[in-house]
Amino acid sequence: MLDDGRLTFRQGDAREAAPEEGMTPGLLIANPPYGEQSNPKSASIRSMMKHVADNLKANFAGWSAWMLTSDRSLPQQMRLKESRKTVLFNGPLECRFFRFDMVAGSNRRKPRAEETSED
Ligand SMILES: C[S@@+](CC[C@H](N)C(=O)[O-])C[C@H]1O[C@@H](n2cnc3c(N)ncnc32)[C@H](O)[C@@H]1O
Repeated sequence: MLDDGRLTFRQGDAREAAPEEGMTPGLLIANPPYGEQSNPKSASIRSMMKHVADNLKANFAGWSAWMLTSDRSLPQQMRLKESRKTVLFNGPLECRFFRFDMVAGSNRRKPRAEETSED
């Protein structure tokens, strides 16, 4: 915690994190694991990110969640449609910085055929 109490850091599982009671919706930033070393990509990370997304939908409606990853399939894994996507490099690694606007039950991905954004 900072001396003036404005910031507190706690370690926790992103599948179970929740805002404190009465907290104003804000911004989340995460650099989730993305199985760069495994080929094929780890099924357990895909499953974990689905659970993280389920938690965001349940507990973080009204929040913006920004996720930095080199895995372009993160929105599919999370069953979410990004509202914004920025290409950037994390060192030599080409990444996407996805923004998901969490509105309970309303930002599910469209079927693939209707998608218009490019990878
Ligand atoms: C790509 S690394 C991010 C590293 C970070 N940017 C840093 O500089 O330390 C992904 C991180 O997610 C953590 N992680 C894995 N599963 C998690 C979970 N369920 N909840 C929260 N963090 C998790 C891993 O331990 C790892 O530190």
